[in-house]
Order: sequence, then structure tokens, then C-alpha cells
Amino acid sequence: MPKNKTFKPCDLVIYGGLGDLSTRKLLISLYRLEKAGLMEAGTRIIAVDRHRKDNAEFVDIAHKNLHSFLNDDIDEDIWQRFSARLSYLKIDLTQMEEYQQLHDVLHPETNVLVNYFAVSPVLFKSICQGLDQAGVLNDQSRIVMEKPIGHDLVSSREINDVVAEVFNEDQVFRIDHYLGKETVLNLLALRFANSFFTTNWDHNTIDHIQITVAEEVGIEGRWEYFDHTGQLRDMLQNHLLQILTFVAMEPPVDLEAHSIHNEKIKVLQALRPITENNVEEKTVRGQYTKGFQKATPVPGYLEEEGANTDSTTETFVAVRVDIDNWRWAGVPFYLRTGKRMNYKRTEIVVYFKQLPHNIFKDSFRHLPPNKLIIHLQPNEGVEIEMLNKVPGIDGDIKLQKTKLDLSFSEAFKKNKLFGGYEKLILEALRGNPTLFLSREEIEQAWTWIDSIQKAWAKTNEEARPYPAGTWGPIASDSLLARDGRAWEG
Ligand code: BG6
Repeated sequence: MPKNKTFKPCDLVIYGGLGDLSTRKLLISLYRLEKAGLMEAGTRIIAVDRHRKDNAEFVDIAHKNLHSFLNDDIDEDIWQRFSARLSYLKIDLTQMEEYQQLHDVLHPETNVLVNYFAVSPVLFKSICQGLDQAGVLNDQSRIVMEKPIGHDLVSSREINDVVAEVFNEDQVFRIDHYLGKETVLNLLALRFANSFFTTNWDHNTIDHIQITVAEEVGIEGRWEYFDHTGQLRDMLQNHLLQILTFVAMEPPVDLEAHSIHNEKIKVLQALRPITENNVEEKTVRGQYTKGFQKATPVPGYLEEEGANTDSTTETFVAVRVDIDNWRWAGVPFYLRTGKRMNYKRTEIVVYFKQLPHNIFKDSFRHLPPNKLIIHLQPNEGVEIEMLNKVPGIDGDIKLQKTKLDLSFSEAFKKNKLFGGYEKLILEALRGNPTLFLSREEIEQAWTWIDSIQKAWAKTNEEARPYPAGTWGPIASDSLLARDGRAWEG
């Protein structure tokens, strides 16, 4: 993005404006953007929902939500500026004629129309048609869509087809909120702004890579949604595969959206399919049972509120991923993600290869390999584990494992770390598609995920129990132990 570029003001219309996503995440993030001085003058936020509310009532709801979810005091001056942008419109999204109301509120001559679909995908079709029939769209109009974009390849295509009837691909901004996280974006900087990694990032030097996205939370009142989805679709299809593509992709020629999308798609195309013949050896499904987190007892998945007690949905998944291309031949990627694990921890650990010969064997029989650990959240930072000589003049050279430890909060004390949504909303308002997902990317990811889902169904792969507050089922350790490896502790 060029510095000091001025951007057009937008009319941001949030469908599902009173829903959870809008009130807990979007409005909070928009307020933070206001506070950071990043909202264009003239940009307006129009919440659309089917409840009978007026503007004042909506502003009041927004204020109460800021109180509950901001984790900070509300700055009254900022709030005055922010609330002046807010308005509410009652529209039943299934009734085409009701979209005509948008005519009266939108400012197409000055403001770009950005439609944020914060509703279930079953409504996408009527929203697209309603907007089209109301004649409020032009070439600059955009839509922003949230996951889930389908629950398999077929349903994902259906959603994308519905949208494509009205919008061109370059008008569609598909969100994966992990791509707005500072540390995920920093992967581009780490890999492509440091000469150190140009030669140390392939099968010649790397033994294997682990990606862990461990969540402390359980199902949090979304049991029914989650039970139809499972951790494979909820987390691995999107967030973990996105991290994987950033770690594994070839250098893009620049930071343009198509350059990055193309490289990510190539990685997804190279994922070796998992079939019924190897699914047992390459994947682990798990489901949490009751246990303890920070010494507090917590219920099992089947005891959560609203649970169907014979559900076999997985709340944990671990997979060995092989990428069949030149760079990564023979380098497994181990991915794991689960709910109600010991603590929140999202990290990438790159294990480098053993040295071919040990000249220190008199004092150190096995040289442990170097490790690069990228802490994505919390405690964002980068560590390198390496061996150094223990100071001393007496006797043989003694080695000790030491760490180069870069903590973001220390290194960038003056820079505020924003959440993923702030970054992505800002980019959507500015019309920069680089951090959003292309249709092809999502469909390619589904193709690979579907292969696992089918293989599980064919082999009746069970969800192995693991107590809440642990790192998953024992079988997850065996997945690596079979290859002579272990998860990062
Ligand atoms: C969402 C999933 O996409 O990501 C949730 O639907 C999950 O189930 C959440 O808890 C995790 O996001 P974060 O930013 O807390 O790691």
C-alpha cells in the first residue's frame, strides 16, 4: 500500500448487524480502527438485521457491547466520532423488495459499498439477489464473507457459484482471520526479507516442521454448530492450512494478491491425498472428556450444554502432511489442533537436520538439531535454539543448548499489536485483496480435507478420548513416535 494514499470512504453494510460476529468482533474492531485514526472521513457503518430497532437503540446496543468486549475503557471523544457513523436498517433478508430501502441510505456517488455477510451462508443467495435487484451495486462494490464457506467441496462451490452470479471474483473478499494476525503476516517477512532463510528452507536443511494450534476454550455455547463441523473443518481446513501455505510456499514475485494466491495454491495442489489405506497411520481424531484446566474442573465434550451424548465429532485432530514438490520432498509437516487443551498456544517449530558428523562427541555424544520456534500467539516472538560453548578454560569444549529469543512485545514496544479483524476490515475497506482467500484456494483446500473426511467415514475412524487440559490423545504422540520424532513439549 503506498504511503499517505487517500482511500475512498465506504458504506459498510453489515448483514447480521445484531448477531454475535458483528457485535462481539466487527464493531469492536471498527471502534479500534477509529481510535487508531484509520477510518476514512465519510465512512459509514450500516447494521442490517430483521429486528425492529431504530438508530438510537442500535447505537445503545453497540455502546453496551463495547463495554462488555473491548477490554479497555471507552474513550468518549472517540465514541462520539464512531457512533456518528452508525445506523440501523431493518430488512428481512429473504424478502427481495425490502432491499429497496438501501437506496434511501447509500451514497453511491461518494462511498464504495462494502457488504459484510455476517450471517449464515444459507442467506447469501438472497442477499446477492436482493442487492442485484435493488440496483445498488456497481463495479466498485465488494462483499466480505466469513467462514464457513461450505462444509465440503460441493457445498463450497455452491456458495461461490451463487456469489459469482452477481459479483466478479475481484469483488469478493473471503476472510480467514488468521491472515490478519501480525505473526502470521510476519512469516512473509521472516522468510522473504532475510537472506538467512533463502538457503535454509527446504529438504536439504529441514528435518520436519510442526504446526500446533492448541485452544484452551471448549465449545462456548456453539455445540450444535460445532458438532456438525468438527475440528478438521473448523480449524484445519482454514487456519492451519493457511499457516502451512505461508511456511511452505515459493517466494512470490511481489506482494500482489494474485502472486501470493498462486504460490499458495501450488502448495495446496501438492498436498499428498490421504486415503483409506493410510488414514489410520497419518491422522488422529480425538474428543475431550472431562478434566482440569488450570486446576479447575471442566466438562467433557459430551457433557457440554446442549450436547448430544452419543456424538463422535472430533474436537482434536493431528495429521502428518506430505508435500509432494521439489522443495519439501521427504520433509513431513505435522499439524495438530484441539479444543480444551492444556493452554492456548499457536506455534510453528522448524526442526533442522542433524549435522553429518559430530566433532564434539567426547563431550556431547548427540548434537541436538537446531530449532526455529515461531510463537504466533500468545507471547508472540521468534526463538532459535542452538548450541554454544560453555565458557571455561579447563578441559574439553563443553556445549550447551541456548536460545536467541526475540519477543515482539520487547522488540516493538512502541507498536500496538492489533487483532486479525482490525487488519482485515481495514484492507477490505481499502480494497486490497492480498490477505483474502481466492475461490481456487478454498476449493483446493476442501479437496484435500474431503479426502480425509471420506477416509475417516470409510474406515469408521474413532474419536479417541483425551482429558481436557492435556495435549490430546496418546495416539497423537504415536503419530510422531512412529517416525522417530516427538511433539515439541
Ligand atoms: C474460529 C473457530 O475460526 O477460530 C473457533 O471457528 C476457534 O472454533 C477460533 O475457537 C480460534 O481463533 P483464535 O483467533 O482465538 O485462535
